[in-house]
Amino acid sequence: MISYSIYIVDDEELIRDASVLTLGKKYRVKAFSSAESAIDALRTDPPDLVLLDIGLPGMSGIEAIEAIKAKCPDVLIIMITAYDDIETVISAMKRGAYDYVVKPINMDALELGIANALETIRLRKEVQLLQEKYLKENLPYFIGQSDAIVDIMALVTTVAKSPHASVLILGDTGTGKELIASTIHYKSPHFRGPFVTLNCAAIPENLVESELFGYEKGAFSGAAPGGKQGLLEAAADGTLFLDEVGDLSLGIQAKLLRFLENGEYYKVGGTQKKSIRTRVVAATNRDLDALIANGQFRQDLYYRLAIIKIEVPTLSRRREDILPMAMHFLVEFSQKLNKPIAGISPDAQTVLQAMEWKGNVRELRNRIERGVLIGKGPEITLNDLGLDNPDRSTMVALNAPKGVAASGAGFPMLSADGIDLPGLHEAMDRHYFDQSLKMADGNATQAARLLQMSYYAFRRRIDKLKIKPKTPSLKKTIG
Ligand SMILES: Nc1ncnc2c1ncn2[C@@H]1O[C@H](COP(=O)(O)OP(=O)(O)OP(=O)(O)O)[C@@H](O)[C@H]1O
Ligand SMILES: [Mg+2]
Repeated sequence: MISYSIYIVDDEELIRDASVLTLGKKYRVKAFSSAESAIDALRTDPPDLVLLDIGLPGMSGIEAIEAIKAKCPDVLIIMITAYDDIETVISAMKRGAYDYVVKPINMDALELGIANALETIRLRKEVQLLQEKYLKENLPYFIGQSDAIVDIMALVTTVAKSPHASVLILGDTGTGKELIASTIHYKSPHFRGPFVTLNCAAIPENLVESELFGYEKGAFSGAAPGGKQGLLEAAADGTLFLDEVGDLSLGIQAKLLRFLENGEYYKVGGTQKKSIRTRVVAATNRDLDALIANGQFRQDLYYRLAIIKIEVPTLSRRREDILPMAMHFLVEFSQKLNKPIAGISPDAQTVLQAMEWKGNVRELRNRIERGVLIGKGPEITLNDLGLDNPDRSTMVALNAPKGVAASGAGFPMLSADGIDLPGLHEAMDRHYFDQSLKMADGNATQAARLLQMSYYAFRRRIDKLKIKPKTPSLKKTIG
């Protein structure tokens, strides 16, 4: 049986003692005489439930609600109030209290309130477990250890929790926009609801409206006699993923905006206002700023969609993700194709890391699938990947993007004696890190930008290379 833990926070010793005595028989109970001391204890031994007196010395019970929720968002709080003061109670409930009891405390009523709250907690935990199981079964894993991906995953987890916030995902083809959209759905409280996709670029403009909003019977010639449900309605209490949202016509953009603002829409040929709740996640690989500047995309719709904006960098800007992803796809395909391939040869790894990856993760995944399919040995080789004679144009000369010749000229030849590639990498890093810091006058943020890296990745690397900040301005930046 789960043993629940309860805090009782009250400045009256009598109440504390009585609660510990009665509730202690069933639960683990800790008593505190002030909100501050209870909040201190949250970190080391977080409770399931807090019984919180409103009139406390120091921080009041009302103020304490937010502080407790900030540290332990899942904890339930039952307020204890000396008077049946409805204003105070409402204000407590608004701040997130779950229930309240009135002094003098009737122990039976309190126990009943606690039992209810704990049942809510039990159900929540059950849903969470179910959700995790569902996630495992439904969701492809989201792989990545670059700063960008770690940040994106943290944001995804946070936004998933508010089931109606719109999200806009921007990024090049194959970077994982759809995977992010489905992750948001499966991590949300509506994970059992539908996840419906509309690719706005794949269907003719005149059909988008009826696909999205549906139509009434007799809406137009050739319409199905009974009318049609739209994808919006199909996505009720779930997620509607609008892929290639940049391709929507201005007319539909206006209708979509109205829906996002008040949840209302009309079917094509309909006069009756419809209303549903669903989360809209939109994605595009087009440059929305340019579309807005050209008058092809509504700015107000952009702001409405981009309440949460997720920008997914190309694979070549997060090369540290290439090998972990390649290994993940290797396992995936060797299981699917039932071929026990244990790894990727070192030279193939080097080439994978150096490629340009215009098609991003999708291209990498396809390459590995090919490798597993063709490979015969215990490891995937350059040959299996079709990279034994790589087309120089698909390789970025030692990964240096713009500004460096892509021909490979200027790099030492690989001879039969081999070459110290890690040493070369380091030398190259030193060269560019030093140069970028010089060019940016010691400003690490600007230097990181010159190397198209996040500030944190930049800082980690210069620390590792023991490149010492030379100017006072740099010292200040990297503190
Ligand atoms: N971080 C990741 N971890 C694991 N697999 C990934 C990751 N990112 C993308 N993929 C996989 O790469 C492929 C392409 O991803 P996805 O379809 O989400 O890209 P997209 O950005 O929607 O592309 P497009 O703009 O072309 O529609 C999918 O098979 C997806 O599962
Ligand atoms: Mg996509």
